[in-house]
Amino acid sequence: MTEDFLPINGTDYVELYVGNAKQASLFYQYAFGFELIAYAGPETGVKDRASYVLKQDKIRLVLTSALDPFSEIADHVNRHGDGVKVLALWVDDAEKSWWETTTRGAESEFKPKVVSDQFGEVKMSSIKTYGETIHTFVERKNYKGVFLPGYVPRKSTYTAESIGLKYVDHCVGNVQLGEMDHWVEFYEKVMGFKLLLTFDDKDISTEYSALMSKVVSNGNGYIKFPINEPAEGKKKSQIEEYLDFYGGPGVQHMAIATDNIVHTVSELRRRGVEFLEVPSSYYDDLLDRVGKIDEELEPLKNMNILVDRDEEGYLLQIFTKPVQDRPTLFFEIIQRKGAKSFGKGNFKALFEAIEREQALRGNL
Ligand code: FE2
Repeated sequence: MTEDFLPINGTDYVELYVGNAKQASLFYQYAFGFELIAYAGPETGVKDRASYVLKQDKIRLVLTSALDPFSEIADHVNRHGDGVKVLALWVDDAEKSWWETTTRGAESEFKPKVVSDQFGEVKMSSIKTYGETIHTFVERKNYKGVFLPGYVPRKSTYTAESIGLKYVDHCVGNVQLGEMDHWVEFYEKVMGFKLLLTFDDKDISTEYSALMSKVVSNGNGYIKFPINEPAEGKKKSQIEEYLDFYGGPGVQHMAIATDNIVHTVSELRRRGVEFLEVPSSYYDDLLDRVGKIDEELEPLKNMNILVDRDEEGYLLQIFTKPVQDRPTLFFEIIQRKGAKSFGKGNFKALFEAIEREQALRGNL
């Protein structure tokens, strides 16, 4: 086996650039059960932005909005709407990570640097990936502060209760027609990832909403990045709709793992999070398709939770509607019971559900 030149311990944080981070942070606290833990902004000496750091189990979400109307953040939000800017990766050596990837062709976002405060130091470096999304390498073995130097601890007067969201399972990127293989190659060559799976339009096209997808994963399998591109269909692909409204490639969805999807989704629903719906006929022959499962069928059916099986086990999953007005970023909630795949058996039902939403928006 060849040595992994880019060992990654996991997702460090995901940063969204949003129109109003103050309000978005409350949405993710109230609706998704995240806890506010840290903040950076003018009160802490940061002049151009305000950032709220939210946490639930292993997931750290950073919500940033611009204070300066002419800043890069304001421009990003203007063009893309709310969306993921940074998929940060937790590494043991941020300098080596930058060096290994840039010498293999990655474009640098910023060179390795050390940031420090009274709680220690963090080394960071960053490279560009699809669209305007970046991967920031974070080396934090010498840091004891709440998040990163420059951030101060911050609590909300609202007490967030965890709803069982545990870690980032995978993050999916949408890229333009003909660009998927380029980005798969980027992850293979530049970051040492391996191609895990390929879905072509025979697997996943409905009458209209065709797409192609390939999944790449890092050495230890903790980081999984499916990459989608539109495929020719009768009408507009859901990926094209995303690209039109995001203004180019970007993160389509973040899948978050739970070990009790029924509890997690019932909490999300109670708090007003909207999900895609499949017809109740999906459940008529579900157990014939996936075999015996531990969960009762009725709550799954009531909540529109989908099930799929592969050689290693099964998984339960559900997709939110977009979490902003543009039909761009959404979330997946996933519970894995042995299965390591992505719910291929649900693609058709799911994409038909997406098409119904697309049609309502007048974008099909
Ligand atoms: Fe997914």
